[in-house]
Formats: sequence, structure tokens, C-alpha cells
Amino acid sequence: MACIGSSRLCARAEKLCQFGHFAQLRRKVSTTCTKSRPEIPTSTSTLVQHCQKRSTRECRLGVAGRAMSSMQTQQPGSLPEYQVDPYRLLEDDLKYIYDDIRQVLLANGTSEELKTISTYYFDGQGKALRPMVAILVSRAINYHKGRDNLLPSQKQVAMISEMIHNASLLHDDVIDQSPIRRGKPSVNEVWSQKKATMAGDYILSIATMMIARLRNNDVTITLSQVVTDLVQGEFMQLGSKETENERFTHYLTKTYRKTASLIANSSKAVAMLANADEQLTELAFQYGRNIGLAFQLVDDLLDFVSSSDAMGKPTAADLKLGLATAPVLFACERFPELNAMIMRRFQEPGDVEKAFELVHKSQGLEQTRFLARKHCNEAIRIANSLAESPYQKGLAIVSDLVINRLK
Ligand code: FPP
Ligand code: MG
Repeated sequence: MACIGSSRLCARAEKLCQFGHFAQLRRKVSTTCTKSRPEIPTSTSTLVQHCQKRSTRECRLGVAGRAMSSMQTQQPGSLPEYQVDPYRLLEDDLKYIYDDIRQVLLANGTSEELKTISTYYFDGQGKALRPMVAILVSRAINYHKGRDNLLPSQKQVAMISEMIHNASLLHDDVIDQSPIRRGKPSVNEVWSQKKATMAGDYILSIATMMIARLRNNDVTITLSQVVTDLVQGEFMQLGSKETENERFTHYLTKTYRKTASLIANSSKAVAMLANADEQLTELAFQYGRNIGLAFQLVDDLLDFVSSSDAMGKPTAADLKLGLATAPVLFACERFPELNAMIMRRFQEPGDVEKAFELVHKSQGLEQTRFLARKHCNEAIRIANSLAESPYQKGLAIVSDLVINRLK
């Protein structure tokens, strides 16, 4: 069966669903740490108190605020007031991140059209999840090592991660023939498939130059691995597996490569730049890996329940693209007739509608959320092993944002 090789997990997921636990996925952030430092820098401490006193919504301001609202249309009441808002906490670090990316793309470009196309999505309206996580991990690790500054090289990694992500989306929309991205017509729709592909290549090439300029071989290898993973993850998505167990393993590997690797390896790279030892670097990697896996699982879930307007991209899209994501794979256990549809990639008339209906009738959506929650909890456990700081707490809050997002 397709349940991560464990029917016990499915059984537990079902049990929790019956009691409605998924409707109230809330948690109080633990402030316990294995190590703690007595002093929080004054400016940050004031900021945190400010955020603690006011609601998260009131704490949103400017570009970071927009990003926050985009990431965090939460289930009602899901963020308690006392939590640290990571976007607010990193407001100064994130404020110019899109401007800086635009600047580097404009400075290196020779064609006006290529400059326009390559900067099209860097309009400050994105969630900036990847730069936010990279900077938060940087600051949490730096603090853990007794420092209170963000290294310029770590900020570069934050920019590079967003640029690699963007390049991959440009290519992805060509592959998926998607007409919408980030709430506006996609590059391939406005210009052409060819120009979208080239713009993706251009952004990737500038990101590669930025990696080279860091002059750190380990970081170069780590970030190069991301590109390899992205391509191979996307390639894996073109194929399917015969048996249910193989299919789930295939799906999870693909999900790691397509989504989690970028967040995991960017976290690892910033830890390396902080001269973290192997163990701490591995913690950073595992934090990013778990956040990345959870993020994609929620994305796959939202494809079944959210609207295109809310998501800023087409929804109910995966089935139409022939893709069997976690909700369908879980639903197979209850409705084995889905297996044949998966094998023919939902190509026969009525397949998409029938599969959609069966997913909603099954526990597939709840089981997907349960699995995402498991990865979020692991990310929180890792965050809690770092020295106590607003950034370390912010790392735990990120997992709340990921699991509770509605778009
Ligand atoms: C979104 O998938 C796509 C990705 C996360 C990665 C795509 C990777 C490539 C196209 C390989 C090329 C990589 C580079 C760096 C140029 P989705 O279709 O599931 O999500 P969506 O709904 O947002 O489109
Ligand atoms: Mg796509």
C-alpha cells in the first residue's frame, strides 16, 4: 500500500482526523533549548517584545509585510500573538533582497528585453520563503556560535537561492504550459516559451557567477548539487512506478530533489559560511530538508483545496498534468481503482474528475497534512537544539507558517 511503507501511520492519521485534530493544528512554541545564551541583543529584544505585544497582522509592514501576508493566510487564530514573526524579525535583511537581485540581473544584462523578462517575478510580491529561511538559519547559527551579524556571503546565498528557484519556475512553466505565476500572466504567456527558457538560463547563469564569487569550494559543491537535484527531480516527475510502495518512494525522492534540496542545501551553505562544524552543518541541512518536504506536501494538498486566485497559479493542476501527488497516493489505499488511473496518468476522459472526487472522499488530504506536520515537528526539534535566540524561535515559527498556510 502507498502509505510511506507503514499502515500504522495511516491508521494514526485517520484516527486524528476523526477527532478533528487537523482542523486545529496549532502549537505553542517551546522555548526550551539544549544550550542557551543569557543575552538577546537589545534591538532584537525590543523588536520581539513589540511583536509579542501586537498581533502578527499588526506587525506586518512594507515588503516583508507583503511577503508575510502572502505566506501566511493562516487558518483563523492559528498564530498566537506572542509568537515571533520571522518576516518582521528579518525585515531589515529582507527589505532590499528583491532590489538587490534585480540590480545584479540588470547590471549583467545587455538586452533590454532580457533584463525586463528576467526581473519580471522579482517584484517583491513573492513569499521570499527561501531567502527568509536562509537568513534565519544564518542568524540562528551565527548566534549559536556567539556572533550577532549576518555575513555578506550568507546574504548572497539567500539571493542565490531565490534566483535558482525563480529560474526553475520559469522552466517549469514552460514544461507545464502554465499561463499564470504569482498572480500574473506567466513569462511564457506574455513573451514566449523560448524567451522564458532563456530568461531562466540567464538568471541561473548569474546565480552561478555569484556562487563562484563566494570562493568557497564546499559551498560551490553544495549549491551545485541543488541544480542537479532540481533537474533530476523534474525529470523523475515525467515517469511513474508500477507498485504503490515504489510510487511513494519515488514521490518522496522527487519531492526532496524538486523542492527540499534547495532549502536544505542553502541552509547547509550558510552554516558552512559561518564555519559551523560538521554536526551543526548537518543540523542546518536537516532543518531545511524537513521544511522543504513539508512545504511541498502542503503545496500538493493545496492543489486540491485552494483556489487559483488565492494561490496565484493554476490549481487542481497536478492531476491534469498526469501527476499523482501525496493526496492521491494516500487515497489509493481506500480506493484501489485509482491505481489504474495513476498508471495511465489520468488521461482517459473523466479520470481527473473521478480522481479528484475520490481524493476528497478519502483521508488522503488529512494524511498528507499529517505527514507534512511530521516534518514540521522534526524541523522544530532541530531548531530547539540551537542556542536560544529570536532567530532560533523564528525557525520554529516557520514550520507553523508552512503547515498552516492557505496559499
Ligand atoms: C515547480 O513545480 C517546479 C520546481 C519546484 C522545480 C522545477 C525544476 C526544473 C524545471 C529543472 C530546471 C532547473 C533550473 C534550475 C533551471 P510544480 O509544477 O509542482 O509547481 P507549480 O504549481 O508552482 O508550478
Ligand atoms: Mg508547474
